[in-house]
Amino acid sequence: MDSIIAFLLLSAFCTASAQQMESNISRGSYLTPGINSTWVSRSGLYAFGFYQQGNGYAVGIFLAGIPQKTVVWTANRDGPPVSSSATLNFSGDGTLVLQSTPEQTPIIIANSLGSTSAAMLHTGNFVLYNSDQQRVWQSFEHPTDSLLPGQRLLAGTELFSSISETDHSTGIFRLKMQRDGHLLQFPVGSPDMTPYVYYGSGTPGTGDNVTLNFSPDGHLYLLNATGANIKNLTDGGYPTKETIYLMRIDADGIFRLYSYDLKQNGNWSDVWSSSYDLCDPKGLCGLNGYCVLNDNKAQCVCLPGFEMVHQGNWTAGCERNFNAASCNSKNEYNEYTMRELANTVWEDISYSVLSFPIKEDCERACLEDCNCEAALFKDRTCRKQKLPLRYGRRQLTDSNIAFIKVGKSMPADMPKDNQKDLRLVILIVGAVFLTFGCMMSVVSGIVLYKYHFWYRTLPFDGNVELSDDVALRRFTYLELEKATDGFREEVGRGSFGTVYKGAILNGQKVVAVKRLEKVLAEGEIEFQTEMKVIGRTHHRNLVCLLGYCHEGSHRLLVYEYMCNGSLANILFTPEKQPCWEERMGIARDIARGILYLHEECERQIIHCDIKPQNILMDDYGRAKISDFGLAKLLKPDQTRTFTGIRGTRGYVAPEWHRKLPVTVKADVYSYGIVLLEVICRRKSMDNSVPEDRAILVDWVYHCFEAGDLEQLVGPNDEVDKKQLERMIKLGLWCIQDEPSLRPSMKKVLLMLEGTVDIPTPPSPTSFFSVI
Ligand SMILES: *[C@@H]1O[C@H](CO)[C@@H](O)[C@H](O)[C@H]1NC(C)=O
Ligand SMILES: *[C@@H]1O[C@H](CO)[C@@H](O)[C@H](O)[C@H]1NC(C)=O
Ligand SMILES: *[C@@H]1O[C@H](CO)[C@@H](O)[C@H](O)[C@H]1NC(C)=O
Ligand SMILES: *[C@@H]1O[C@H](CO)[C@@H](O)[C@H](O)[C@H]1NC(C)=O
Ligand SMILES: *[C@@H]1O[C@H](CO)[C@@H](O)[C@H](O)[C@H]1NC(C)=O
Ligand SMILES: *[C@@H]1O[C@H](CO)[C@@H](O)[C@H](O)[C@H]1NC(C)=O
Ligand SMILES: *[C@@H]1O[C@H](CO)[C@@H](O)[C@H](O)[C@H]1NC(C)=O
Ligand SMILES: *[C@@H]1O[C@H](CO)[C@@H](O)[C@H](O)[C@H]1NC(C)=O
Repeated sequence: MDSIIAFLLLSAFCTASAQQMESNISRGSYLTPGINSTWVSRSGLYAFGFYQQGNGYAVGIFLAGIPQKTVVWTANRDGPPVSSSATLNFSGDGTLVLQSTPEQTPIIIANSLGSTSAAMLHTGNFVLYNSDQQRVWQSFEHPTDSLLPGQRLLAGTELFSSISETDHSTGIFRLKMQRDGHLLQFPVGSPDMTPYVYYGSGTPGTGDNVTLNFSPDGHLYLLNATGANIKNLTDGGYPTKETIYLMRIDADGIFRLYSYDLKQNGNWSDVWSSSYDLCDPKGLCGLNGYCVLNDNKAQCVCLPGFEMVHQGNWTAGCERNFNAASCNSKNEYNEYTMRELANTVWEDISYSVLSFPIKEDCERACLEDCNCEAALFKDRTCRKQKLPLRYGRRQLTDSNIAFIKVGKSMPADMPKDNQKDLRLVILIVGAVFLTFGCMMSVVSGIVLYKYHFWYRTLPFDGNVELSDDVALRRFTYLELEKATDGFREEVGRGSFGTVYKGAILNGQKVVAVKRLEKVLAEGEIEFQTEMKVIGRTHHRNLVCLLGYCHEGSHRLLVYEYMCNGSLANILFTPEKQPCWEERMGIARDIARGILYLHEECERQIIHCDIKPQNILMDDYGRAKISDFGLAKLLKPDQTRTFTGIRGTRGYVAPEWHRKLPVTVKADVYSYGIVLLEVICRRKSMDNSVPEDRAILVDWVYHCFEAGDLEQLVGPNDEVDKKQLERMIKLGLWCIQDEPSLRPSMKKVLLMLEGTVDIPTPPSPTSFFSVI
């Protein structure tokens, strides 16, 4: 105990004699990347200053004396890297400020607090002194992800892991020294509560002000307020000569003690780990993924029927690879089956707990409950859950069985592109009433509220004429059967019906007839409302609905025929690809169509499924938006809505995944993806290109940052470079994760037309405010 206190006195509190050994940095000194980029400790082991991060530089403390240049502390860790023209000043008034470029506002790393000199100490601590030689600021009191010998983690403070070994921004795990004496690990963003803990020191209730301490011989231990040793995490007593130690919470969520033998000039080796099971850290695999140990390495796997949101990025988690129904669709339309996943454990967020003798009962209970998306069965208890499932891992010693509800029609191993490449040539407005999740109570609400008169006059057989203000022609089934020559020529197929080519008016007008495959009685009101609303929208960038058939169980919709197929068809077929000017015209057409839906209709309409397959090309190369099957009508005073996820993977705005309210900005996001596809003439996900380019948005942002946009269009594309840059910037604004940062469609159109300036966009993922 005496030795510990002596050690604390020596290292944690300053003594004037220690300073003499160190470099002395006076006010007015400054650093720049390149030459004079650091202030080095006397021993040369530690340096404070600039180090390379990404394409630029960051400021921090690193081990300058070893080849790995291991970073142990970072200033302003979540700020962007600074440029090579940055300066770090220990300014005349004693503040430590970082300035990226002369135009940018300086970032204060340490306030003056009356400091007159600074020093990089041999312990790895960077300190500011006042004129009485007292420490007024020290990096040891602001730890990031690492502790060095002599440094303490005080009660109430935390360490946060970095994103990766090379990116020291805040990652997804934390280590907290709680005020009750317990040292715990949690995922970032979770409350300090038991269900989220994945490591604990086992010392709760040992008093206020317990600290985690670290001595030069690799001893990690907890001391209470009166200096009593409560617990040793590591025993210490390791060699101290020519060996240095480092404790760090690694990007994988485990905190480790590392040693480094300076003599051998070798490598860090881990002496101790908080856990030896790499699947322990909760949240290592994102939502709907679970951790599996393979050769002692952690690996994330998606639930059956799911796939990774971003290939290779575990944190982003997994999403369904099928369209999910809302609870409005009835059981007869149940398209689901259950998949079994043995020996897995998950966070328990059950909304219903049932008792069953056998697992099959649990499986069936979930299948028959439209709210149930997964069920966990263990010890005769069945827990019904909703998605997303979190903190999953395989645990062979656990008898838990998870049942996952998956789409029946879509085998999990079906390649993604097959289902996406349905070239839906025709507008499918009214697929609506079969559309899962589409016509929810909101729409019924509109009908009842706004059209209550009309509603009340509905005859009971439901087979009604639409009122006269809908300028749609009504067809008999026989007429359409004749028009399509017995539904002979199929031109498209969607999830809700098949589209046939036909001709009306004695063969003079070519039309597309969509035959909806299944009809629900409950869908009737919704069907007609949608017809009323969409039937009245007329815009040259929306495909026109001409008529319908509503006879017995037959429901058909008649549209103008588009001989040039979909945008996907021309954009992704090399021989058909339009030139730059034509592409810009298409981008404007789509924007005008969406703007009309958002701002010029009687009621705001969120299309929800903007993608190249749903943009049709007319004879004049004009783009028209089609398929309102997933559209969402907002009430007159409504600007946002909560609904189940809808749309197509790759085009769906992130707020859907996060179960946040959705606004018209969801369409802006999808538009941004389509815009980038139109610019680059390729799909947003393309596995046939090198991996670093497979995800278009990542590649675009990378090229944009690197200032190399020409790569994106290739050498054979004659492109106005200025315009290209504007379009890319616009695309990046549209795909911001944070919906409020995306421009409105009106703004988009102004930017497309070159009437307003486009500022430099931030990284699309940098500003999302909710975890
Ligand atoms: C550092 O330098 C300043 C002025 O150059 C001096 O006042 C101060 O005493 C020095 N500190 C140490 C620890 O040598
Ligand atoms: C680097 O700093 C040293 C002293 O700190 C100074 O003598 C030298 O001129 C500086 N070099 C440059 C290029 O600023
Ligand atoms: C930092 O120091 C440099 C060189 O003395 C000076 O040009 C620059 O304006 C200073 N920046 C700040 C923010 O004080
Ligand atoms: C610290 O621990 C010692 C030994 O367990 C105990 O006697 C003492 O009361 C504790 N101090 C505080 C402030 O809890
Ligand atoms: C713990 O620290 C706080 C602030 O440093 C202090 O106010 C409090 O008295 C301390 N508690 C104990 C038991 O030492
Ligand atoms: C912790 O380890 C030290 C030796 O490093 C030992 O003296 C002490 O008794 C141990 N304390 C506990 C609580 O195990
Ligand atoms: C240090 O270890 C890493 C991985 O264990 C290895 O890739 C690297 O080459 C080693 N470096 C040296 C200098 O041995
Ligand atoms: C992985 O996904 C997460 C969440 O979507 C994101 O914050 C992170 O930046 C992504 N990482 C990489 C390397 O793309």
